[in-house]
Amino acid sequence: MDLEGALDLIVEVPDFPEPGVLFRDLAPLFAHAEGFATVVNALAETIEPDTELLAAVEARGFMLASAVGYARGLGVVLVRKPGKLPLVAQRIDYALEYGTASLELPAGVAGPGARVGVVDDVLATGGTVDATCQLLERAGAEVAGISVVMELAALDGRAALSGRKIRSLLVA
Ligand code: PRP
Ligand code: HPA
Repeated sequence: MDLEGALDLIVEVPDFPEPGVLFRDLAPLFAHAEGFATVVNALAETIEPDTELLAAVEARGFMLASAVGYARGLGVVLVRKPGKLPLVAQRIDYALEYGTASLELPAGVAGPGARVGVVDDVLATGGTVDATCQLLERAGAEVAGISVVMELAALDGRAALSGRKIRSLLVA
């Protein structure tokens, strides 16, 4: 399966999770063996060469970063929603396309100077990835680049992430 065919597995769902939001559902892509492998391999190619570690955002980012990390021989730091981590290095509150959220970075895994690549499924407003980058930088790590499957151009996540290297497989 080629990349275009794999990305065609993403389904548009109107009015989720709120009226007026057109939700891009990656569940059919994740469930399709060839489609998932194709997207993981393409995403692995977007990781900057000097990357030492990947950071993944809960929950769908975990799936992608774990597979990309395996493909690239890199470990993964799990950036989690509150209340999950026993030892927290940093916490941040931020705005989403719909609502607000918080994320936490585990202690002791993304140390000073580490070159970290951020992986997630969808870049919408950019709030989640921006929060993740800030968590990493507050811990002294450096953001090597940002890799996502899909970028929602209308929400202009790039504006929230100006100056950062962003690679997306699909802009819609
Ligand atoms: C979604 C998506 C991204 C984020 C993108 O996560 O997986 O992480 O929103 O939105 P933004 O660019 O506007 O911040 P969600 O919080 O829905 O979590 P999930 O992966 O647990 O479903
Ligand atoms: N799909 C998946 N995650 C998202 C979306 C979407 O359309 N918008 C914000 N996060």
